[in-house]
Amino acid sequence: MPVLDILVYPNPALKKKSLPVKKLDEDIKCLLDDMVQTMRDAHGVGLAAPQIGRNIRILVVDVPLPEENRKEFYELINPEIVSSRGSQIGKEGCLSVPGFYENIRRRNHISVSALDREGKRFTIDAEGMLSRVLQHEIDHLDGILFFDRLGRLKKDILLKQIDERFVSAQS
Ligand code: NI
Repeated sequence: MPVLDILVYPNPALKKKSLPVKKLDEDIKCLLDDMVQTMRDAHGVGLAAPQIGRNIRILVVDVPLPEENRKEFYELINPEIVSSRGSQIGKEGCLSVPGFYENIRRRNHISVSALDREGKRFTIDAEGMLSRVLQHEIDHLDGILFFDRLGRLKKDILLKQIDERFVSAQS
């Protein structure tokens, strides 16, 4: 199970809308295994397929539950948010936008319907951190990055900072 390269903004694959998975074959199962390995290697709480250059609707999450001393781990194929309520604001970053963090408003509770690796449908009722991470990763499948959820002014400032870092890394 190799660790894959994580694409970094402004790679164009990150801004594309991903297509649903039509057939759950061995390729998809290997991809899930590689994504889990890659997410853990990067110490991430979630990873979506476009981040490793595959524009298909697959994501993995591994969210710590410190009070219970365990993690909430899920693999989701073709996930859809079927209901949501409430709102929360919290700091967010992204493995594809390394070094940048912003407060982002998200729904507090969501229900997500998805297929597991055997093709069986399941539902997650999530709130708090797990809900935030799922919304962030599902956004990746639609080519939306966390800073796209900021107001215009804050987004412009952040993009300028990212561009400056990108230019200084090149020179
Ligand atoms: Ni991300």
